Amino acid sequence: MSLALDLPRLQTALRLPTQDERQQLLHGLLQPRAHIDSKYFYDDRGCELFTAICRLDEYYPTRTEARIFSQHREAIAEQLPGHMQWIDLGCGDCRKTEDWLSAVAPARVIGVDIAGEFLQTSLAEVAQRHPQLECIGVVSDFTQHLDLHELLAERPSAPPVFFYPGSSIGNFEPRAAMRFLRRIRAHCGQHGRLLIGADLVKPRDILEAAYDDASGVTAEFNLNVLNVVNRELDADFNAAHFRHFAHFDEAHRRVEMHLVSAREQNVNLGVHANRRFGANEHILTEYSHKYSLDEFRALLAASGLRCSHYWTDPQDWFGVFLAEPV
Ligand code: AVJ
Repeated sequence: MSLALDLPRLQTALRLPTQDERQQLLHGLLQPRAHIDSKYFYDDRGCELFTAICRLDEYYPTRTEARIFSQHREAIAEQLPGHMQWIDLGCGDCRKTEDWLSAVAPARVIGVDIAGEFLQTSLAEVAQRHPQLECIGVVSDFTQHLDLHELLAERPSAPPVFFYPGSSIGNFEPRAAMRFLRRIRAHCGQHGRLLIGADLVKPRDILEAAYDDASGVTAEFNLNVLNVVNRELDADFNAAHFRHFAHFDEAHRRVEMHLVSAREQNVNLGVHANRRFGANEHILTEYSHKYSLDEFRALLAASGLRCSHYWTDPQDWFGVFLAEPV
C-alpha cells in the first residue's frame, strides 16, 4: 500500500500569487501610506511564529477562547445540527478542530487554509488519528474567494457548520467583515451555522501588550513579513532597518501593527519599482479589530445572520458567537 493513498484529499483553489496579487502588493507599498496585507504573514516561518505567539503570556485571545470552548463544548455542540460538514476556515495546525471532533461528530471535515504545505501535513495527521473521518483540505485564500458550494453539495443532507475561531475576523475592516460574513451566510442554506470567535474591547495596556510582547516574538512575526515580500516581489527589504510598532486606535477599536523605518532608506521592489522610506515612516501590516458584544451582534445581523447563542469568559475578554441565517 502506498502511503500517498492514505493522504486526505487536497483541493487547490488557490491561484498561486498571480500577477494581479503581486500588483496589489506593490501598489500598497507605493501608496503615500504604505501597507502590506496581513495575509502575507503566513509563510512557513510566519506560521511557526504565530504558533509561538499563541503560547505567550501576553497573548490572551487563543488561551481565553480555548477556555471558553472547553468549558462550554457540550452546550455549544448541542446547538449544532447532528449530521454536519465541519468547515474550519484558516485551520492552520488543525488543533482547534481536533478538539471538537468527539463532541460534534461531523460527517466530514473540510480544512481551508492559505498555507498549503502546512495544511497538507496537519490534515494528514488528523486523518491518521481519525481513520473513519473524511478529511478534505482546500488550499485557498478564502478571505478573497470563498466558494465551497460544489464541495458542500456532495453531501446535501449534511448542513455546513463554519468554524472561524481566533478572532481572525478582526483582520477585516467592518465593511469587509460584513461582506465576508455574507459570503459565509450564502453557503448556509436553512440549517447551516457559523461558530465564530471575536476579541472584545478591553483596556489599552492589555491590548498593546498582547501585540508587543516582552520576548519580541510578535516583533519577529511582524518583521518576517518583509522576507515574504522580498520573495514575492524580488524586493530587498532589510528587516534590520525596521522596527515593530503596535498601537490601539480607540476610535476605530483596533490594534494596528506597523513597521517603522529606522532610518531614511531606499528599498528595491523588484523590476522597475523602488520606494523611499523616510526615518520613522510607517508601513501598516495589520488591523486587529476589537468588538463589544452589541457591535458584533450588529455586524452579524447586517450580514444576514442572527446570533442565537453567546459565550464569554469571566472577564468578558473574548466572545464566542453561534449564528444562524435569518
Ligand atoms: C490571527 C488575526 C487573530 O489579530 O490577533 C497575532 C494575528 N497578529 N499577533 C490577531 C496576530 C499579531 C491574530 N489573528
